[in-house]
Amino acid sequence: MSLLQSATEVRERAYAPYSRFKVGVALRTPSGAVHVGCNVENVAYPEGTCAEAGAIAAMVAAGETVISEVLVIADSPDPVPPCGGCRQKIAEFAAQDVKVTLCTTDGKEMVMTVAELLPGVFTAAHMERT
Ligand code: THU
Repeated sequence: MSLLQSATEVRERAYAPYSRFKVGVALRTPSGAVHVGCNVENVAYPEGTCAEAGAIAAMVAAGETVISEVLVIADSPDPVPPCGGCRQKIAEFAAQDVKVTLCTTDGKEMVMTVAELLPGVFTAAHMERT
């Protein structure tokens, strides 16, 4: 199944009673496995989690830690970009040249790389002193 199909399907299962903004994410790993996630909101609003976080948690729970491709979809006027925190979460597991496809439910698409989404990413190297 394509990332677009997987993300479209999981988006339907998003729990977003407060924003009414459902987001679906599908990511592929080098093994070819696809992991999906949707946003899960909470009445205590800051406790809600993004679709990207869900897909990454599913990947890690399945024993994988490398993202080779990601796709995000929402019913948005323009292709929906991952929020700032999710850009950092994606960058934890994806190389700088990994493709992130931003989609709308009505078929608009935009492709960016992890580097383009998060220039100046904080990495473990920033914690090293030589
Ligand atoms: N949301 C995501 O799931 N991913 C993003 O990258 C952008 C925002 C969710 C969080 C919240 O449930 C809803 O969209 C509105 O912000």
